Amino acid sequence: MNSIVVLGAKGQLGSEIKKIESEFSGLNITYTDVDELDITNLSKLKLFFNNRRFSYIINAAAYTAVDKAETEEKKAMQVNVEGVTNLARLAANFKSHLIHISTDYVFDGKANKPYNEDSPTNPLNVYGRTKQKSEVEALRHVDTMVIRTSWLYSTFGNNFVKTIVRLAKEKNELRIVYDQIGSPTYAEDLARAILTIIQQQVHHKNVFKRGIYHFANHGVCSWYDFAKEIVNYFNLPCKVKPILSDDYPTPAKRPAYSVLHCQKFIETFEQEIPYWRDSLHRCLSTLKI
Ligand SMILES: NC(=O)c1ccc[n+]([C@@H]2O[C@H](COP(=O)([O-])OP(=O)(O)OC[C@H]3O[C@@H](n4cnc5c(N)ncnc54)[C@H](OP(=O)(O)O)[C@@H]3O)[C@@H](O)[C@H]2O)c1
Repeated sequence: MNSIVVLGAKGQLGSEIKKIESEFSGLNITYTDVDELDITNLSKLKLFFNNRRFSYIINAAAYTAVDKAETEEKKAMQVNVEGVTNLARLAANFKSHLIHISTDYVFDGKANKPYNEDSPTNPLNVYGRTKQKSEVEALRHVDTMVIRTSWLYSTFGNNFVKTIVRLAKEKNELRIVYDQIGSPTYAEDLARAILTIIQQQVHHKNVFKRGIYHFANHGVCSWYDFAKEIVNYFNLPCKVKPILSDDYPTPAKRPAYSVLHCQKFIETFEQEIPYWRDSLHRCLSTLKI
């Protein structure tokens, strides 16, 4: 009843789930990543799920290289769409609950107020399109929860926070875009939110609340503000200058505004969400620089 498998377990989110697992009692969690279980390999997946029964499948596996996806569309599609199609089918066969993670990049960023779960999607890049399709595939299974999050960072893996710390130590000046607005989200907070949902369900026999939810740390900022906060936290003598996205062309176009409205998550699961600066400081306090 409480057995869980985390796919893509060596990534940021998967590693954070493993890190905080001990805060939760009575959850029996198995961790696996692509080296052991490739979600695009249906026969291996079948074998894996035939041998073990899981009440919950947490899909933290994904192709997440946003710029590279522009030239690796097939690979991104395979992992983010075909892989998720496989998981949804198996979850249905084995009567497991599927918790799938998606992104703010399913939106085009033309809004001027936070996106709701039912706001129309219109991704601007290949990665976003694959994740939009992944949501459709995941939701074919009746017991699926899709949690969209944004600007994920962690002490594990490569991410914006670690890149800024490294560059700020190497350079005198960083030029960071200030016309893309979103909500940085500490993967530890998302990990805790997911395990709390499962624990609530296991302990209180709540029904599984299928559907789409938004989860991002509270508050908004630009990438420039995010970088400045990191540099200031460590008192690094590096200047951070705001620039326009047009002055920093990237292969993948990104939404100018991708703030997620998270009220549905807060009300449904009765969980508070931390403010982005508080979470960032918590993460930075554990980084050795
Ligand atoms: N990172 C962000 O800023 C962000 C923002 C919004 C939403 N999200 C979503 O949040 C979720 C978690 O993101 P994350 O940042 O934790 O991702 P991540 O750090 O890139 O981790 C993804 C993990 O999945 C693994 N993986 C890749 N292909 C696989 C396959 N075919 N089968 C099994 N595992 C595979 C990766 O292995 P390799 O490293 O060896 O490829 C990696 O360990 C994803 O769904 C992502 O789309 C991320």
